[in-house]
Amino acid sequence: MSDTLAWGRRYLMCPPDFFTIAYEINPWMHADVTVDRDLAALQWHTLRHALRTAGAAIEVLDPVDGLPDLVFTANAGVVDGRRFVPSRFRNPERASETPIDCAWFERHGYELHPMLPGVVHEGAGDALPFTDRSGTPVLVSGYRTRSDVQSHVSLSRVLGVPVRPVELVDRRLYHLDLTFCPLDKRRAIVVPGAWDRYGARMMDELVPEPLELSVDEALGFVANSLVVGSVVVMPHCPPRVGWQLERWGFTAVEVDVSEFHKAGGACRCLTLALDVRLT
Ligand code: ARG
Repeated sequence: MSDTLAWGRRYLMCPPDFFTIAYEINPWMHADVTVDRDLAALQWHTLRHALRTAGAAIEVLDPVDGLPDLVFTANAGVVDGRRFVPSRFRNPERASETPIDCAWFERHGYELHPMLPGVVHEGAGDALPFTDRSGTPVLVSGYRTRSDVQSHVSLSRVLGVPVRPVELVDRRLYHLDLTFCPLDKRRAIVVPGAWDRYGARMMDELVPEPLELSVDEALGFVANSLVVGSVVVMPHCPPRVGWQLERWGFTAVEVDVSEFHKAGGACRCLTLALDVRLT
């Protein structure tokens, strides 16, 4: 097992008390589909339990009636130490989440650092840390359908860290965290078929030991996983993927979050790592 990630042991989650499909802002969402709230609650608690069992601490953001996607805390913003860069959402349907997220972070002693004016960026859903080959922390940032093409410039200006942009070319895989999951300092789950040629080449250089998924596997939310030390908590783990993870010294734990697939999300989207340190 190579060096485990220095982050991923403290997460923010928001219970699905008001989770529903009230609008359609990605190809997964159909407003005529009903959510089984009891099942969603059971799946959410099972995910929280799996993360705690793996050794993670979980902080809770209070749910708000009328904000069904607040459960997807990955989109609240980008965390770096005690700094928090709040998201600026593409769709007005999610815009009212931002003041709620900001209030939580301010209350918990974080400094707020806004994105440059007018720039849309959807937080950790589109920005995940990795380490380049010289050992420097970089932020990989996805763009196109949701975050703006120029958001990486803004992120890097606001945070003072190198940001590597990747264009997300498949509308069904609209956030970076559906296509990329850092596993440790050298390894990551990657979906090159979801990226433009430049992005795929850049990622190929960045990640020395990739675990490559097909687009079909990614559409099963396999990459929307998260890592607590050597435990990979995943919505679904195909045998081939489980075998590779095991060979690398990881333990895969599957948590069914099927109710959240209806909104286009899975395990990673339901969490926001609070212990990321980029600088
Ligand atoms: N319904 C939500 C949206 O479209 C799902 C967000 C999923 N979040 C993520 N980090 N991929 O915004």
